[in-house]
Amino acid sequence: MKAFVQTFGCQMNEHDSLRMKEMLDQLGYERVPSAEGADLVILNTCSVRDLPEHKVYSQVGRLAQQKAQQPNLVVAVAGCVAQQEGKTILKRYKVVDLVFGPDQIFSLPEMLAEVAQGKRVLRTAWLPRDKKIQNFIPTEELDHFTLEGPTGNIAITKGCDNFCTFCIVPTTRGRLVSREPENILAEAKTLLQKGAKELWLLGQNVNAYQAGEAGFGELLAQVAALPGLMRLRFSSPHPNDWTNRLTDLMAANPVICPALHLPLQAGSDRILKAMHRDHNQAQFLDKVAYLKDKIPQIGLSSDIMVGFPGESEANFQDTLKVMQLVRFHQVYAFKYSPRPGTKAKAMGDDISETEKASRLEQVLNLHERIRSEVLQAEVGNRHEVLIDAAHPREQGVMTGRSANYLPVALQDAQAEIGDLVQVRITERRPHSLQGVRLD
Ligand code: 5AD
Ligand code: SF4
Repeated sequence: MKAFVQTFGCQMNEHDSLRMKEMLDQLGYERVPSAEGADLVILNTCSVRDLPEHKVYSQVGRLAQQKAQQPNLVVAVAGCVAQQEGKTILKRYKVVDLVFGPDQIFSLPEMLAEVAQGKRVLRTAWLPRDKKIQNFIPTEELDHFTLEGPTGNIAITKGCDNFCTFCIVPTTRGRLVSREPENILAEAKTLLQKGAKELWLLGQNVNAYQAGEAGFGELLAQVAALPGLMRLRFSSPHPNDWTNRLTDLMAANPVICPALHLPLQAGSDRILKAMHRDHNQAQFLDKVAYLKDKIPQIGLSSDIMVGFPGESEANFQDTLKVMQLVRFHQVYAFKYSPRPGTKAKAMGDDISETEKASRLEQVLNLHERIRSEVLQAEVGNRHEVLIDAAHPREQGVMTGRSANYLPVALQDAQAEIGDLVQVRITERRPHSLQGVRLD
């Protein structure tokens, strides 16, 4: 039996998909890289914007054609779209056998057994969220956890309590729950024993982590102290919960990588307020100034949204202004799209598609310019690179990331995945750096 798990959306979804693949391994499935020839296809979906959601439905359509030729094909829809639209999906798409939400992934074997009995299964119930600290990963599962490359990912929170007015996450992933520190440390140790060189702590809002007295900083320090760990990263933090104390910790602890994703969304105070972001432009810039002062090599990245309801040209110019001041190394930019059940949906979607497209292009152009300058300025510098893959197209080229998360390619480096190597940057490629080994 062959299984294909297709992932849409964020790192947390990638991570959930890995959990599913491990359970499928246990059930004797072989992992295959596409739906073609698979006996089971799981679409692990994302509903954060309308585009990824549409992609899911077109994939469901394609699978319906495949099932017409291959009646035994089992199709499952998981993740955030499943959580939100579960019932409708099952009703509307006869091709779908199983729908389950993010809180149900560990019941996958049970659900597949029901499908094998000819049932169509819907499971979108939440696990209880009454307690803010919970062991939401069953400890007995830890032994089956696998790594993809040198990096292990660990879910430390799930859900989010922020209620940004544009965001569907509290609906699809529920309210914030923090995982017990002992459980997180046990998983970290297991992953290190299995060969992880780098760990990422994951959550929709990681730095809102709170387990009794211990906040995100205490957790970071504890994980960073584990023997054998070379690099510690995390995603995604919220600017509101990013404190100068966390910056100090990052500056003082060599295992915590000098890289930070700080989603700005918008530069205008009026729009930030309407988004319910709870910080203004000046506060964001102050945090960035402190970061750059304490950690000059810091690699900052961000999410930018254009066309939020009521965003005037002047408001939009504020976004460009902040981008120019901060000079993010990486920017993920999106056109606002109204999501079901969010507060912003009721504000009307009054910026035209043409205007959104034009603003998006301006953001991307500015980012492109800043990024090439950032990359160009690295030529001649020395970096430590963790090799994470062989280049998909170029023979003999290995790729990896610097500590501040710049992508680096190495020619004929005689390096293996998982090696941490010293590199001199020799050249800027269009979207990455090229270097030679020094050691
Ligand atoms: N429309 C457009 N972009 C959105 N994002 C979240 N919700 C929406 C929406 N309704 C973006 C934000 C967030 C990223 C993961 O997706 O920029 O940080
Ligand atoms: Fe998409 Fe958000 Fe769900 Fe991740 S948590 S899959 S980004 S909707």
